[in-house]
Order: sequence, then structure tokens, then C-alpha cells
Amino acid sequence: MRIAYPAALALAAFGTPALAADELLERGRYLSQIMDCGGCHTEGALIGQPDPKLDLAGSTIGFEVPGYGYVYPPNLTSDPQTGLGQWSVEDIQRAVTTGERPDGRILVVMPWPHYSHLTPEDATALASYINSLPPTPHKVPPFTEHTQPQPAPVLTVK
Ligand code: HEC
Repeated sequence: MRIAYPAALALAAFGTPALAADELLERGRYLSQIMDCGGCHTEGALIGQPDPKLDLAGSTIGFEVPGYGYVYPPNLTSDPQTGLGQWSVEDIQRAVTTGERPDGRILVVMPWPHYSHLTPEDATALASYINSLPPTPHKVPPFTEHTQPQPAPVLTVK
């Protein structure tokens, strides 16, 4: 017993990091499902026809926010050109919990005021999972100010 107890502890400590990374991503996947990220960020989801090939790869149907502009749920996958490939885990976590993008603009429509209640552990798990999504190239229109022509179909937010 004198030997077995510290040996078990050492084994547990040694085995922890790899397990923790798996568990973090699994927790993040679970959170992204129950928080319904795909309900907006998957092509077709906003009209009840989600395209499983474009899961979390953005929506070309967006929202009109009167007096502000047109927003389209961006591609959250790690594609460097059309997705979040240039964003760090911290950038994603800040956007989801405070609405602030790396360029300082505050996101609209995106329900970050609700997501601001995530525990720091869950916010990190969610952001790590989003950051781990394989790249799915899919271009959606950028934020467009209301003074510009509407780039693609929208639902209206009152
Ligand atoms: C009700 C629809 C909706 C839901 C649900 C939603 N989002 Fe969003 N999200 C948006 C819209 C619309 C934008 C773009 C807003 C803007 O440009 O002002 C956005 C922007 C973002 C951005 C910033 C990306 C960028 O390129 O600017 C991130 C990151 C993000 N969402 C992650 C998530 C995650 C993670 C979830 C689930 C936990 C989620 N969103 C759920 C609608 C939604």
C-alpha cells in the first residue's frame, strides 16, 4: 500500500493533460449543440433547412437590423479566408461572452448577452471547440451598413 498509493497518484497526474484536452473539446461540442450555434451559423438553418455539409460554416441568409445594417451569421470553422482561421481561442471567447470582435465592433443579433453568463471554464471549452472545427470554405456576406445595398436575403429584427 505504501508504494501503490503514490504510484496511483503519479499515474493520475501523468494521465491528466491528454484526457483534459479531450474532455474540454467534448464539453465544448455539447455546449455548442445545446446553445444552438448551428441554429443561426449553419447554412439553411434559419429557414428550417440546415445543410449538414455546411455545419457552422455560416449563413447567406442574415438579419436586417433597422437603422444599423445587414448581418450574416459568419463561418465559424477554421477556414483562413472565409472562417475564423485567423482568430485565437481568446478572440472567440471574447466575442461569445462580450460581443467584442478583434476590430472592436460589438456584435448584434448574436445572443452574447445570454452567453455572458457562461462560467469561464465553459466559455473556454466552447471557444476551444469552435477553434478546433476543421476548415469548411464557405463565404457569407460581411456586415453591411444600412446605407449600402442589401447583399443577400434577410429576416427582419424589430
Ligand atoms: C440568433 C442567431 C445566432 C446564434 C444562436 C448564435 N449566433 Fe453567433 N452570430 C450571429 C450573427 C448574426 C453574427 C454576426 C453579427 C454581426 O456581425 O454584428 C454572429 C457572430 C458571431 C461571432 C463573430 C464572428 C465574426 O466573424 O465576426 C462568433 C465568434 C459567433 N457568432 C459564435 C457563436 C457561437 C459559438 C454560438 C453558439 C454558442 C453562436 N454564435 C450562436 C448569430 C447567432
